[in-house]
Amino acid sequence: MSNVAEKLEKEINSFQSLWRGGTTLSRQGWDSCANDRLRVGIDINKIYEICIQPYINNEITALEIGTNGGAWLKKMMEAKALIGTDVLSAEHVGFWNNVPPLDKIAYHHVSDFSCDCLEEGSVDYVFSYDVFCHISYSGTEQYLKNLYDKLKPGANCFIMIADADKYQHYGNKYKCMTASGYSDWETFVNDFDGDPTRGRGRWYFYGTERFCELLEKYNYTLIDKDVIGGYDRLSPIIHFKKPESNG
Ligand SMILES: C[S@@+](CC[C@H](N)C(=O)[O-])C[C@H]1O[C@@H](n2cnc3c(N)ncnc32)[C@H](O)[C@@H]1O
Repeated sequence: MSNVAEKLEKEINSFQSLWRGGTTLSRQGWDSCANDRLRVGIDINKIYEICIQPYINNEITALEIGTNGGAWLKKMMEAKALIGTDVLSAEHVGFWNNVPPLDKIAYHHVSDFSCDCLEEGSVDYVFSYDVFCHISYSGTEQYLKNLYDKLKPGANCFIMIADADKYQHYGNKYKCMTASGYSDWETFVNDFDGDPTRGRGRWYFYGTERFCELLEKYNYTLIDKDVIGGYDRLSPIIHFKKPESNG
C-alpha cells in the first residue's frame, strides 16, 4: 500500500467513533439549528436557496457526499433519485431515523474515495457541506478525480471547503485549531495534507486556490469560487460543473 493510500485509510478510520446518532443539524432539526448557525454567521436557509433549491427537480439524481443523518439530503426530496454517501454506517448516524424509507433514496456506506458505489454518468447534482473541510488535500484530489466519470455532462456541484482567508472568526479559529490538535494557526493551516490522527475529525485548510487547481487538473469548469459569499461568514462553497461535452 502506498503512503497516500495508507494515510487515507487512517483518515477514514479516524471518523469511526464520531457523530454517533447524527450531527447537530440532523438531531436538532433544521429550523432550530438554522437559528444557532446564524449566530456564527452561517445562513443555512440561504445555502438552501442558492445552492440546492434552483437545481432540484423530479428529473435529476442528487448526490450528497458525507450525508451523515441526511439533514441536507432531506432538502432535496423533490429529486427523482437521492443518494447519500458516508464513511460511517447508516445505523451509526441514524440516517433512516431521520429520512423516510423511500425506494428513491439510497445510502452508501463507503470505505474509500473511489466513488465505486455510483454508476457511470448517472449523477446530475452534487452537494457537500461540512465534509471536505474534514478531508485532506490528497483525499479531495482522489474524490474529484473519481467523481468525474460518475457525473452526467453539465452536472452542477456545490462543495464547501475550509479556507483560512475566509475563516476569520477568532473564537472559531481557536476552537477548530485546538480540536484539530494544533496550538499554532500557521502550522495548522500549512498542514493541509497532514496527519489525520492529530485530532479526530480535524479540519484541513487547503483553501480555494488549491481546490480550484484540482478542478482544472481534472477538467471541471469553475462557475463560482464562492457562491455563498457573505451568507456563510466562515467557509466558501465552490460551484463547478462537469462540462456539457468534452469537445
Ligand atoms: C461534520 S459531519 C457533516 C454531515 C452533514 N453534511 C451535515 O452537515 O450535517 C461530516 C461527515 O462527513 C463524513 N465524511 C468524512 N470523510 C468522508 C469521506 N471521505 N467520504 C464520505 N463522507 C465522509 C463523516 O463521516 C461525517 O458524517
